[in-house]
Amino acid sequence: MRMYDLIMKKRGGESLSKEEIEYMITEYTADRIPDYQMSAMMMAIYFQGMSAQETSALTMAMAHSGDMMDLSEITGTKVDKHSTGGVGDKTSIALTPMVAACGVKIAKMSGRGLGHTGGTIDKLESFAGFTTGITAEHFVRQVNEIGVSIMGQTADIAPADKKLYALRDVTATVDNMSLIASSIMSKKLASGADAIVLDVKTGSGAFMKDEKDSFALAQEMVTLGNMAGRKTIAVVSDMDQPLGRAVGNALEVEEAIATLRGKGPEDFTELCMTLGTYMLIAGGAASDEQDARKKLHSVIEDGSALKKLADFVQAQGGDAKAVYDTTLLPKASVVEEIVSSKSGYVCRIDCEEIGICSLILGGGRETKDSMIDLSVGLVLNKKVGDYVTAGQSLATIYANDRDKLASAKERFGAAYHFTDQPVQGSGLIKGILS
Ligand code: URA
Repeated sequence: MRMYDLIMKKRGGESLSKEEIEYMITEYTADRIPDYQMSAMMMAIYFQGMSAQETSALTMAMAHSGDMMDLSEITGTKVDKHSTGGVGDKTSIALTPMVAACGVKIAKMSGRGLGHTGGTIDKLESFAGFTTGITAEHFVRQVNEIGVSIMGQTADIAPADKKLYALRDVTATVDNMSLIASSIMSKKLASGADAIVLDVKTGSGAFMKDEKDSFALAQEMVTLGNMAGRKTIAVVSDMDQPLGRAVGNALEVEEAIATLRGKGPEDFTELCMTLGTYMLIAGGAASDEQDARKKLHSVIEDGSALKKLADFVQAQGGDAKAVYDTTLLPKASVVEEIVSSKSGYVCRIDCEEIGICSLILGGGRETKDSMIDLSVGLVLNKKVGDYVTAGQSLATIYANDRDKLASAKERFGAAYHFTDQPVQGSGLIKGILS
């Protein structure tokens, strides 16, 4: 078999066989196929697409390109959760302790942020000393002992995806449905959980901006998960404006903690409730939606979800005192209000632009190796549907550098759009696929 022939075949719109896909992934992982040939293949796939059979073969080949985690030593059903990425998406930080406090085991692998979207690992590192660089033994022990652990993606889990994702990121081939579905699901399948709840984002801050495409992506991933014998459910949720109000690592952690105290923003709380409901049902801890919601409310009310977060942070070396005293989280030196120059109803917030503001302030990575500033970001004081009068604050901005602050403010100005007429929000939960 020759990679050249496979590129020609895909470029001409033909389907690749399972054997051809396995060959390509094995040889690329072993560095026997160069990046330039794989880049050409990714672009051919981008334009020609892949059939369901090809996507499934690609997913399984990437999942098996490294270790398949064995979680059999963890008792009970292990549930994983994954978001396709967005702005202000701090869901895992509040949701995983909520679900674990209800008795479902959470064994989750997470990544760092790249571009305008943040990553759970970076956010969790706002707790001084916290690490996701734990061993598989630590991970298994911790899930058995306290019911939740989040570890970083090791080099041995789906290494083919790791190489391919980095390549796609620099060759403009990220936003293809089959490539995204196989990338996410290969990691999820290799991570070993029994059930997977996916949060597929749609809108201006998501990889999939079009709702129809987001549903198709969700369906594709649900099919891939179920075919591999994992119970897989997808929630399609809005990312046309940032989730909640906080954007930026420590600021998002603070908002997640407020949510665990029952004082979180309405949209973010509702997303945690919806995803949590399906995690409890998949994990066998709730019989139906009503039962699940009741249980999730009760762990917030009695403080056990907050305590679970503290136990989780401590078990991974972090300063759990910050869970109860958020003044201990990283703080920016400059705090300013961004006031509106116009009056009217907020009709649209360009979500990606808000993510880029946080990136400019230092809260995200420009490149894989950039250092990030955990303390910076924004808290939105007005969201879609809110009325604002000129001179009122649209957002509070947190910075450590005056030049970066000025650039972020300039960018922010173009992100908000107003109208004279009252506007309805577009709805947070777009649909659920199982
Ligand atoms: N997240 C992933 O892990 N892979 C993609 O391709 C896109 C988002």
